[in-house]
Amino acid sequence: MIKGKNLHKIFESGVFSKRKVIAVDGVDIEIKEGETLALIGESGSGKSTLGKLLLMLTEPTKGEVIFKGKNLTKMKKSELRKIRRKMQLIPQYPDSALDPRWTIYESILEPLRIHGIGNDDYDKIKELMEIVGLKEDHLNRFPHELSGGELQRAVIARTMVLNPKFIVCDEPTSMLDVSVQASIINLLMDLQKERNLSYLFITHDLEVANIVGHRMAVIYAGQIVEEGVDILDEPLHPYTQLLVKSLTMEEDIADTEEEIKKTLKFGKGCKYYNLCPERSEKCLKETPPLVELDKKRKVRCHKYA
Ligand SMILES: Nc1ncnc2c1ncn2[C@@H]1O[C@H](COP(=O)(O)OP(=O)(O)O)[C@@H](O)[C@H]1O
Ligand SMILES: [Mg+2]
Repeated sequence: MIKGKNLHKIFESGVFSKRKVIAVDGVDIEIKEGETLALIGESGSGKSTLGKLLLMLTEPTKGEVIFKGKNLTKMKKSELRKIRRKMQLIPQYPDSALDPRWTIYESILEPLRIHGIGNDDYDKIKELMEIVGLKEDHLNRFPHELSGGELQRAVIARTMVLNPKFIVCDEPTSMLDVSVQASIINLLMDLQKERNLSYLFITHDLEVANIVGHRMAVIYAGQIVEEGVDILDEPLHPYTQLLVKSLTMEEDIADTEEEIKKTLKFGKGCKYYNLCPERSEKCLKETPPLVELDKKRKVRCHKYA
């Protein structure tokens, strides 16, 4: 369904100093039809940027995006516009996706208008409301009159109105109360089954990743460090091992966020070097490749190369 090949995104920040941040650093990724790839990693590791690259919402510094066999990075703007509606984003903050001055109905109708598919599709939108677990009555309300969970359901309705095939769910429940998180996740999983959708499901919650992901990828400092099925049952990369340990032992891994920031500027060597308990001299000199151990697992670590 969708493939990212050797994707890079370098941000230049600072008006005078031109500091470079390598947010995504050579990612190869593929998501099949009807499949969910759960992408886990800490804040600042490049998850959202990778999602936006696959949706072509941000232009890759290097690399290609292939959607249904078509190379989006080489496509004309007008062609890309048509394909865009098949690829959607469910963002972390539902209120960022809805205009506060518009009713829910107007917000859900807008994508249809933009793509010139419909100006007034009340029946279709009413049906969608039911599908996402809202009432017809919600259509006349404004975003501030809805709870966080209801808002996210409205965003999901807005996403589904264009019948997309591939959706990036960017931490779609992280801003919601724990009590409503499960119902939103279940809704997304039901929709996937009914509509055969492909998801990149971004989360930093390993339990959520385990539930939604057919496969999982762990990202650290812009690179995939481990990828496969049932990763968390038997993590191989030292960083994945730390993630799993911190989940079960509730250990704090907050200090790694600072480390990632420092690491984002480096070129050579393993990006996890500074924190890795199993580092060797080779790790400082050579970037470990992402090695396929068997059909089910890839790991970026010299230990397994
Ligand atoms: N538009 C931007 N301009 C400059 N730097 C950015 C921009 N977007 C993200 N970054 C930087 O890229 C890195 C990865 O960010 P992001 O993809 O948002 O990570 P995550 O979603 O995993 O928290 C961070 O260091 C972040 O500060
Ligand atoms: Mg993010």
